[in-house]
Amino acid sequence: MNSAEIRQKFLDFFASKQHQIVPSAPIVVKDDPTLMFINSGMAPFKDYFLGNKPAPYKRIADTQKCLRVSGKHNDLEEVGYDTYHHTMFEMLGNWSFGDYFKKEALEWSWELLTEVYKLPKDRLYVSVFQGDASENLQMDQDAFNIWKSMIAEDRILMGSKKDNFWEMGDTGPCGPCSEIHVDLRTDEERAQVDGKSLVNNDHPQVVEIWNNVFMEFNRLADGSLVKLPAQHVDTGMGFERLCMAIQGKRSNYDTDVFQPLIQFVAKEAGLVYGEDEKTDIAIRVISDHIRAIAFTIADGQLPSNNKAGYVIRRILRRAVRYGFTFLDFKKPFLYKLAAVLADQMETVFPELKQQLSFVQRVIEEEENAFLRTLENGLKRLDALEAKFKENNNTIDGKTAFELYDTFGFPLDLTALIAREKGLTVDEAGFGVEMEQQKNRSRNASASEQSDWVIIQPDVITEFVGYDCNVSDSHIVRYRQVKTKNKSEYHIVLDKTPFYAESGGQVGDTGYLISDSEQIEVLDTKKENDLILHITAKLPQTIDAAFRSEIDFERRNYIRKNHSATHLLHAALRKVLGEHVQQKGSLVNEKVLRFDFSHFAKVEDAQIREIEHIVNERVRQSIPLEEQRNVPIAQAKEMGATALFGEKYGEYVRVIAFDREHSVELCGGTHVYNTGEIGYFKIVSESSVAAGVRRIEAVTAKIAEDFVHAQLDELHAVREVLNTQSNVSGAVQKLQDENKALQKQLEQFELKQLSGLKDTLAQKAQQLNGVSLVAEQIEVSNADHLKKLAFDMRQVVDNLILVLAAEIDGKPQIAVMLSDNLVAEKNLNASQMVRELAKEIKGGGGGQPFYATAGGKDTAGLQAVPGKAVELVKNLMNS
Ligand code: SER
Repeated sequence: MNSAEIRQKFLDFFASKQHQIVPSAPIVVKDDPTLMFINSGMAPFKDYFLGNKPAPYKRIADTQKCLRVSGKHNDLEEVGYDTYHHTMFEMLGNWSFGDYFKKEALEWSWELLTEVYKLPKDRLYVSVFQGDASENLQMDQDAFNIWKSMIAEDRILMGSKKDNFWEMGDTGPCGPCSEIHVDLRTDEERAQVDGKSLVNNDHPQVVEIWNNVFMEFNRLADGSLVKLPAQHVDTGMGFERLCMAIQGKRSNYDTDVFQPLIQFVAKEAGLVYGEDEKTDIAIRVISDHIRAIAFTIADGQLPSNNKAGYVIRRILRRAVRYGFTFLDFKKPFLYKLAAVLADQMETVFPELKQQLSFVQRVIEEEENAFLRTLENGLKRLDALEAKFKENNNTIDGKTAFELYDTFGFPLDLTALIAREKGLTVDEAGFGVEMEQQKNRSRNASASEQSDWVIIQPDVITEFVGYDCNVSDSHIVRYRQVKTKNKSEYHIVLDKTPFYAESGGQVGDTGYLISDSEQIEVLDTKKENDLILHITAKLPQTIDAAFRSEIDFERRNYIRKNHSATHLLHAALRKVLGEHVQQKGSLVNEKVLRFDFSHFAKVEDAQIREIEHIVNERVRQSIPLEEQRNVPIAQAKEMGATALFGEKYGEYVRVIAFDREHSVELCGGTHVYNTGEIGYFKIVSESSVAAGVRRIEAVTAKIAEDFVHAQLDELHAVREVLNTQSNVSGAVQKLQDENKALQKQLEQFELKQLSGLKDTLAQKAQQLNGVSLVAEQIEVSNADHLKKLAFDMRQVVDNLILVLAAEIDGKPQIAVMLSDNLVAEKNLNASQMVRELAKEIKGGGGGQPFYATAGGKDTAGLQAVPGKAVELVKNLMNS
């Protein structure tokens, strides 16, 4: 069975058990501060478990893209070294939301594995939760009894809280679980050691393949467990491991999920996979990491210097580093691999193929940048080699940390290079530096969040902000969040007009007003589907009736900017081409910012055309066509632009301004008529990343103010030039005149310089066979000082020239010697200038025949000539 068939059989099996099959959610999480990436199949459904939102179906199954590289579930360092951990993996899952429970879940999992996939029963073991006294949790007797009715008792193992109580994160839904493990060893191996003893023991061929979690609890921030309102089932089966088991391989990497990637990398490296463990690890690391890198970029996360973007950058750098160090890849290579992956995954995750050229461009640029950094880091190591040798042949912890922090060199890379140079690394010192940095960032970002205080349970907030600016509201829950510098409250209402920040649009501000008080709402944010009103204080009477009121004037500007963003998006696609995809946006009351994929600068003429198209739409006063709850398929048929990486439900909101022109899936707030935008003006165009451009624009009064400011500037220039027409001609004329005058001045100064040269030549004093000229002079710049010195050398033999001058308010000294004095008398201009520079509190240097010095004390200049005479006399006498 190939991997595509294995995946399909899973989905078909659960469809036959009345499960709705849904597409994978994007791997990058947008509206959940507790999670950066989807780390398990259940994460997109978190709100259904917690009761924050009703599940659209009681039974769901899917294959979900997951990433375990940060937070509670982090497998990164294992990846490549073992055969069954990955950064990105697919999790096959089936869910019951308050519907079936343990019996059906366990019976179906057994049926699928043994009857559909035909895994031999005698290679399977199961585990159930043994209970935990410290948390007052009972052994899972129900799961045990269900298994006992299907399999021999000695194949049922008891598992501790670590293995058999699944939690998504530090807080959130959790419950006891029952795992299924498979023993993939050969018959001889199995005869020697009983498989049972190897379960949960990190044996590469005795691995967990399926986890059935029975969600019953919610873990609160104070560590306690509370019962969830309903019982749910969450199951997860690692797809790649399942393929290994069914295809009878000893490693996930030997299945057809990884082989196309592995073979491609091996060929690029000119190696055969499987011949050398060291290069095999590198090939596995790269084949694994490309999946995480390519899919996160396709889902909208660009590599960057913070948060999720930094995680991706680190994974990418890890892959480049393994290629660089073990496979001799000195040029970008990962981007080529993305194409292999895109072909392979096209039918199940088409988003990669659809954006392949963009994704490749981003990866290649990142690779180039990191390869440059690697080279700079290597140079730094080379430059410091002598210092390390003196330091007991050790690279000190501080330098190792600097390499890690600034050049992205992980400790093992530094250690590797050190070994090649016969050095060692002070790993303990590195650890100390690392810990200090962690403490710094922990202190800066640490925040403490209280558990929700529930006033009214099971209330789903009604958002009325598309139609109203004001509503009657009651508080249904709240919590306090403390960081080092501030404390704030998150308040959830039963009904609200406040728009929570999302889709690039900022959150509303406003007031919650009761009979006795008025609480300012500073911002509105989303946490999954909760709308959080952020305030600095809590109302004194929590259960009062409130009137919640947004800052309507501010919202009005935001609406205009948001609708203008849609018009801009459409105009960009028209002028630049259909390859333009939205890559990010920000819409607030002042400005709109739109990032999009495009590979060249947008030319001025194109900017003008885009502005014109948008303003035409504004002048046409196109009415808003807003449709809520449109089935997604129908919306797509209408030609609605959907964003890669955005999580859309089955029903969506469609915003159109003339269906021929702009139709988008969007949750934001908009004008009723494009005429409200008034006027649209682009204020900047720039690059944000490889293949991503940014346009910033303003609308309405702010656009008008912008144009006025530009015109005011122009008026001011006209006044100064005293001209009403042809301003640029007048400026050009001024510049031409200026250039001509400068030329004249230069010629004049050169003439003066020549006269000065003659005067100085005449002043030469003869001293022990040398001609000494030591003078304080006036010259306009350093070039003239230098020219004078070199010209003097041409006309005076046996010359010792010392010139002191104030240039641009600072003292300078130049010393020039004839070559024969350097050679025969052992004189040195650098040494002399350094001695003389003491007079001007400065220093300098240069070559033996010519040197200069600068200083701080202009008043000291006048002493220089006298000092020079003395110095020369001393030198000549010694
Ligand atoms: N949430 C469980 C896991 O990730 C089962 O899906 O293992």
